[in-house]
Amino acid sequence: MALQTTTNIWHNGELIPWEKANIHVMSHVIHYGSSVFEGIRCYTQPEGAGIFRLTEHMQRLIHSAKIYRMPLPYTVEQLSDAVVDVVEANGVAPCYVRPIAFRGYGEIGVNPLKSPVEVYIANFPWGKYVPGNDGADVCISSWNRLAPNTMPSLAKAGANYMNSQLIRMEAEINGYAEGIALDTNGYLSEGSGENLFVIRGGTLYTSPLANSVLNGITRDSILVLARQLGIPVVEQALPREMLYICDEAFFTGTAAEVTHLRSVDRILVGDGTMGPITSMLHKAFFDIVNGLAPDRYNWLTPVKVREAVAV
Ligand SMILES: Cc1ncc(COP(=O)(O)O)c(C=O)c1O
Repeated sequence: MALQTTTNIWHNGELIPWEKANIHVMSHVIHYGSSVFEGIRCYTQPEGAGIFRLTEHMQRLIHSAKIYRMPLPYTVEQLSDAVVDVVEANGVAPCYVRPIAFRGYGEIGVNPLKSPVEVYIANFPWGKYVPGNDGADVCISSWNRLAPNTMPSLAKAGANYMNSQLIRMEAEINGYAEGIALDTNGYLSEGSGENLFVIRGGTLYTSPLANSVLNGITRDSILVLARQLGIPVVEQALPREMLYICDEAFFTGTAAEVTHLRSVDRILVGDGTMGPITSMLHKAFFDIVNGLAPDRYNWLTPVKVREAVAV
């Protein structure tokens, strides 16, 4: 989807015009992938607009930076305030927010420690991410997810998305909406940009963090909602064939939200429609973000925006 621009981008503490947010081609990040980033959605509710789980996203950004020894001169609160500032300044909701921290222009050579850390926050409208209005037709990728002790999966680092690009390109070229990667031991890991859930016999399963998954904030939200709804939840290593014999399956992610899987490798998941447990969780999630149910977990940070634009 083509990028829709907004007016301002936050850079190291101030708002600058969108078109001035440029970096030098010799910046460290361009050559060695040294960035960490976040993706956050801001939803509209009948009473206004709210950013979903802002604190948790900013905490994850700080943790991603910590893993890469990248000092961020901002606290969770300062980064959260900065997100609110840029969303309010641009006045566009619903939207997607993209904070990014990277090693900028300084030294050449792999070691990043002497290159300065730059922080930017942009926001822009972004609609549906995983194609398929009646559920997504996905495949198991020929690419594995990152092996432990190679690239840390718990860091949301730009470089990890070279692996994601291979998964997503292969899937789309072969006519699928998305690919699911196995970990290097052959267990289900996750989609190129989504966590994976499987339902069998009334129990909700998802891969644990040790299976090379990102610690998804939507994943966590679904686990919270499932427990609240009394749905049994199991985090365990899952064999690939669980996807072929399960009753329901879905992706979660900030971009993907809650997207049910219609088929995997052309094998229908259940009868292909969104099943009852996925429907319950989908409704519980969207009722909160759309302001149709009370925000009982304080997941929404209110923002003042001028216009609510349908995406
Ligand atoms: C590889 C990967 N896994 C999972 C997710 C889902 O994480 P979240 O729900 O925090 O967006 C994402 C998206 O950020 C991702 O890129």
